[in-house]
Order: sequence, then C-alpha cells, then structure tokens
Amino acid sequence: MSPNQKTVLITGVSRGLGRAMAEEFIRLGHTVLGCGRSEKEIRQLQKQVGSPHDFAVVDVTDDEQVAAWAKRILKSHGAPDLLLNNAGHINRNARLWEISSQEFSQVIDVNLKGPANVIRHFVPEMVKRQSGVIVNFSSGWGRSTAAEVAPYCATKWAIEGLTQALAQELPPCMAAVPLNPGIINTDMLRSCFGGSASSYPTPPEWAKVAVPFLLKLGPSDNGRPLTVPIRGAND
Ligand SMILES: NC(=O)c1ccc[n+]([C@@H]2O[C@H](COP(=O)([O-])OP(=O)(O)OC[C@H]3O[C@@H](n4cnc5c(N)ncnc54)[C@H](OP(=O)(O)O)[C@@H]3O)[C@@H](O)[C@H]2O)c1
Repeated sequence: MSPNQKTVLITGVSRGLGRAMAEEFIRLGHTVLGCGRSEKEIRQLQKQVGSPHDFAVVDVTDDEQVAAWAKRILKSHGAPDLLLNNAGHINRNARLWEISSQEFSQVIDVNLKGPANVIRHFVPEMVKRQSGVIVNFSSGWGRSTAAEVAPYCATKWAIEGLTQALAQELPPCMAAVPLNPGIINTDMLRSCFGGSASSYPTPPEWAKVAVPFLLKLGPSDNGRPLTVPIRGAND
C-alpha cells in the first residue's frame, strides 16, 4: 500500500454521509472499513466494492458487537489511520417533554455511547501504533440549539466536550476532532427540515469536499472544533 493510501473506518455507512464518504474514499484509492445495522445495504455495498474493503452489520450501541467487530478488523487490517464516528440518530421533531424515555435513550445511545464504544475498542491499537486521527461527527447543533431537537442537541454538545477531553489524553502524534459536517440533504435532515432539506447539497456533492478535507487532518488539528467548508455549514 502506498504511504498516501489510508485505512478509513466509518460507522453508519448504509446511507447518508457515511455511504457517500465510503464511496468517495474508495474512488480515491483508500481502504474503507464500515458498519451499519441495515443488513441489505451493508451486503450490497460489500458486493459492490469487494475486498480489501470490509462492511459489517454492527450496531454501535452494543458494546459486545463493537468489541467483536474491532477484534476481527484489527486482525485483518490493523489499526485505522482515520476513524470516523459518523453513525447518528435524531429524535422526531417534538418538545422535550413530549419525547419518551425510550426515544431519548436511543438518541443518547447512538450519538454518545456509540462513539465511546468504537473508541474503546479501536483506539488502544492506534495509540500503540502512535498514529491516527479520530473524527467525532458533531453538528451545527453541537454549537447552537433549536426547538424540538433538544435530545439531539444535548448529544452533539456532549460529543464536542467528549472529543476535546479525548484530545487531551492522546499522544502528541495523534488527533481527535469534533466535526460539524454542515447541512446536507439526508434522511436525517428530511426528518427535521421536511421539504426544505432538498435545497441543501446531496451527500455525494458534500463528500467531494469533505473527503479531501478529512484526509488532510493531522496532529496539529488535535482538539480543534472543525467545520467542513461547504455551503450551509455555518447556517
Ligand atoms: N445531514 C446533516 O445535515 C447533518 C448535519 C449535522 C450533523 N450531521 C451528523 O452527521 C452524521 C451522519 O448523518 P446523516 O445525515 O448521514 O444521517 P442518516 O442519513 O440518518 O444516516 C445515519 C447513518 O447512521 C447509521 N446508524 C444509525 N444508528 C446506528 C447504530 N446504532 N449502529 C450503526 N449504525 C447506525 C445508519 O445506518 P443503519 O440505520 O443501517 O444502522 C445510517 O447509515 C450524524 O452523526 C449526524 O448527526 C448530519
């Protein structure tokens, strides 16, 4: 493998930003290791791209599933160069007191415990190798707030803090950054923006800008809250 080719681990590759990033990293010659819960999409993606890429059905909220996935991937591909905690979930638009305990927990489990599970099982090998960048997907709503998405905002503000604390724990040759991807027309955006989501970039359009941006991240970015430089990112 050429030194410019990276191994990129992405959670949530079955659709949306994760899927678009996986396809763009592969197009540029990098190896992608990904997961999601939707069996049909994951199998179809694996069939489409083949080896050395590896796509697995894994629920990031389940620590045991993540542990087994990490054990297998670290053995077959070694520690990733770039770890993208992208999988996410948003509550349906509703005021905080109208959201059930179950729905609140699901948002916390995917957006906060999910990245922690992935970090727990992959980052020790990255630290051992003394290299790699961890990107935790945040949001504009990790730095501002809006009505009817309070659980989501809470998790994205939390991921900003979690990531900055993690940045203080890593050796100097590594980095952890919270990333606001901007506003992109995905299932998640349609859930909260409705019809107006269609005025934002599509995931493949976004990935053309986001993937080169991600590939340039390094130790000097450690702990910096970053934003993908795309239209709508600061709206
Ligand atoms: N789109 C935007 O405008 C926007 C703005 C700000 C931040 N973000 C952030 O960007 C990230 C990607 O968002 P998106 O818009 O692409 O969302 P999306 O279209 O809803 O896709 C979410 C992805 O996460 C996966 N996922 C959800 N729960 C999972 C679980 N428990 N285990 C494994 N995978 C899981 C989904 O796959 P399965 O259902 O197959 O598991 C899917 O592939 C999220 O962290 C989101 O908060 C997005």
